[in-house]
Amino acid sequence: MELWKDKIRNIDPYVPGEQPDGKDIIKLNTNESPYPPSPMVKKAIAEYDWEKLRLYPSFVCRGVKSALMDIYDVKEDEIFLGNGSDEVLALGFMTFFNSDKPIIFPDITYSFYDVWCELYSIPYKKAALDNSFCIVKEDYFGENGGVVIANPNAPTGIYMALDDIEDIIKHNRDSIVIIDEAYIDFGGISAAELIHKYDNLAVVQTYSKSRALAGIRVGYAMANSKLIQAMEAVKNSFNSYTLDSLSQAAAEAAARDTEYFNRCRSNIISTREWTVNELSRLGFDTLPSSANFIFTTNKNIDAKGLFEYLRSKNIIVRYFNKPRIDQYLRITIGTREQMEVLIKAIGGY
Ligand SMILES: Cc1ncc(COP(=O)(O)O)c(C=O)c1O
Repeated sequence: MELWKDKIRNIDPYVPGEQPDGKDIIKLNTNESPYPPSPMVKKAIAEYDWEKLRLYPSFVCRGVKSALMDIYDVKEDEIFLGNGSDEVLALGFMTFFNSDKPIIFPDITYSFYDVWCELYSIPYKKAALDNSFCIVKEDYFGENGGVVIANPNAPTGIYMALDDIEDIIKHNRDSIVIIDEAYIDFGGISAAELIHKYDNLAVVQTYSKSRALAGIRVGYAMANSKLIQAMEAVKNSFNSYTLDSLSQAAAEAAARDTEYFNRCRSNIISTREWTVNELSRLGFDTLPSSANFIFTTNKNIDAKGLFEYLRSKNIIVRYFNKPRIDQYLRITIGTREQMEVLIKAIGGY
């Protein structure tokens, strides 16, 4: 009976945040941008020649790469594009972590890392964050099969200085270090500038957060051309056309609108600071965030109870029922108006 059960792959998948349909919901649970994408994206999609959908997309993705080359000091063969940074990271894990030794990442970080290790049977070890939820860099200096660090980290929002990131890369010249920079545009310095100095570094970024394009799924890695070639070979053993042509047009337009990008991120940063101050007035302690979300706790309020109360008021935030962080809520920074509604709701709890 159901003997096939022993032959198929069983895995506990990553559980993404809820994507509700309702219009009246204030959605602060998956770190999307509260602003629409650049108007240049609207124009690029409107002007897109629909007849081209007949053809397979370009797998070189030259337009998107050239826009990224104007932002970062990288060459075309130092960029790898994929269907969201989740796919880029998943292919990165498959390409770079092929050793018997465990890879290392923090005990509190993006929970997809464990899932990819389980999926690909990559041995892994978690290094505990310190009592302030900071990464202890020395934990990553020993022999390992690779290192993954989200910087700023999620769900804490804490940023690790570039010098410390460089120290970790320097201590791991025999393995690959992936720096996941999904949130770097909200307050940190990218490690992208180090890819010419270290051939064991891959920096991964996304269009989903600071470029307000979570819906089109575009992410990328920047690394030494040999690492990029290795990723391309793995990708081309799986699916050559991961990025559709409409997404390529939108991503290129978004990357070229620097003015709009800067305006949105500075609004988000100032709303973040406003929200942290308001929460502090209500007795909350918030970890120092360099991201478009905050991680906050109140010793007099049960986090799960508050999460459920906010849900009943149509405000969705993220609660993780996990050791060390089960009294915290992760709250995405919305518009100033949305955060005012949130603060009012919390004040009435
Ligand atoms: C740390 C981190 N990395 C990567 C991602 C994946 O983003 P995407 O696949 O939308 O590019 C997320 C999404 O929330 C994230 O929090």
